[in-house]
Amino acid sequence: MEGKLSYAAKKLTSSPIQELSHLAQRCNAINLAEGFPDFPAPLHIKNAAVSAINSDLNQYRHVQGICEHLANIVKEMHGLEIDPLTDVAICCGQTEAFAAAIFATIDPGDEVILFDPSYETYQGCVTMAGGVPIHVLLDPPHWTLDPSKLLKSLTERTKAIVLNSPHNPTGKVFTKDELEAIAGACCSRNCLAITDEVYEHITYDNQEHISLASFPGMQERTILTSSLSKTFCVTGWRVGWAIAPAFIASAIRNIHVIVTDSAPAPFQEAALTALRSPPEYFESLRRDYQSKRDYIIKLLVRVGFKIQFIPQGSFFLFAELPENCSLSDVEFVKKLILEAGVVAVPGQGFFHTDFSSNEASNANCNYQKRYIRFAFCKSEATLSAVSERLGKLLDAAGHLALY
Ligand SMILES: Cc1ncc(COP(=O)(O)O)c(C=O)c1O
Repeated sequence: MEGKLSYAAKKLTSSPIQELSHLAQRCNAINLAEGFPDFPAPLHIKNAAVSAINSDLNQYRHVQGICEHLANIVKEMHGLEIDPLTDVAICCGQTEAFAAAIFATIDPGDEVILFDPSYETYQGCVTMAGGVPIHVLLDPPHWTLDPSKLLKSLTERTKAIVLNSPHNPTGKVFTKDELEAIAGACCSRNCLAITDEVYEHITYDNQEHISLASFPGMQERTILTSSLSKTFCVTGWRVGWAIAPAFIASAIRNIHVIVTDSAPAPFQEAALTALRSPPEYFESLRRDYQSKRDYIIKLLVRVGFKIQFIPQGSFFLFAELPENCSLSDVEFVKKLILEAGVVAVPGQGFFHTDFSSNEASNANCNYQKRYIRFAFCKSEATLSAVSERLGKLLDAAGHLALY
């Protein structure tokens, strides 16, 4: 009966995160794998959700005020003028907004550029729509975009370029020059850009988040997706959005209505409060995550990891395995779970370039199995418990006795 599965379903395989997370659960490992906080969400936002439920706002709902707030926010942050009545689709998280954006624009055979490494869901969505993911390598150790690689990957069939900045898994914030190169490619080849800006408020060391939509000629061809999830520590609330030219936003809304009908009503109400949070909220979010970033870097360097790239945004550290470690990323994480009681994500799940293909065959692919992604969006207590557990495994030379 397995033959009854659709082509798209057969192409989707479970990620290394899912498989290792069963082992991690059995071992009661501390979770530095998944990208969500283990500390409370802000009280003012939770109170707003409780109050919405108590007011019986429990039915299908479209909260237009979210669109109004977003119009103000993108004007202030990026200088974009949007019409809140036509240019916003509220969805169930960025995940649904992105999937609907793909289904609204990608036909079978259309090529979609994805940077490599990248967040895993893009590839799955493009494949489900019958699109063809084309991967453009970011060069380690700083995950630099070489514009000539991007230009070489564009063809007559390229429909869209997907950009996630600040970036999961590396913590990279694309530079202005890189963004200019992507914008130039989109405009000259007349293709769309679909951006994932869920970490827009989580940047470090005075790095500024610039939206690709703000470059000349880009607003009319960009679908900007984001959500409440990361900025307000509410990944389970499932409120996100797509901002796009009216005809695309309308198509996304139509898909959203068919797939999920509406985002959770009480949490849409609470979004009104969240989006009005004062500047101090965003400042303290950045400050707190920056100190967690610095803590985990120090900790991992102490146990022998090579950190050549300091995250500039998001809350992930993509750490290279110690030089003398001959284990692969998956083998290392298995040992980390079994012997240290800590779980992180093997980096290979974020890489998609097929090095057997002609184009990529000259590149050295060994690095794809040498990175581990650590999520540091965790409480101080969790991070210090990790430090304690790893500390117990240090040998006389001060290295992790795991390999
Ligand atoms: C880059 C990126 N985009 C999107 C998401 C999911 O966002 P949402 O909860 O809004 O669906 C994540 C979650 O880890 C992410 O890392």
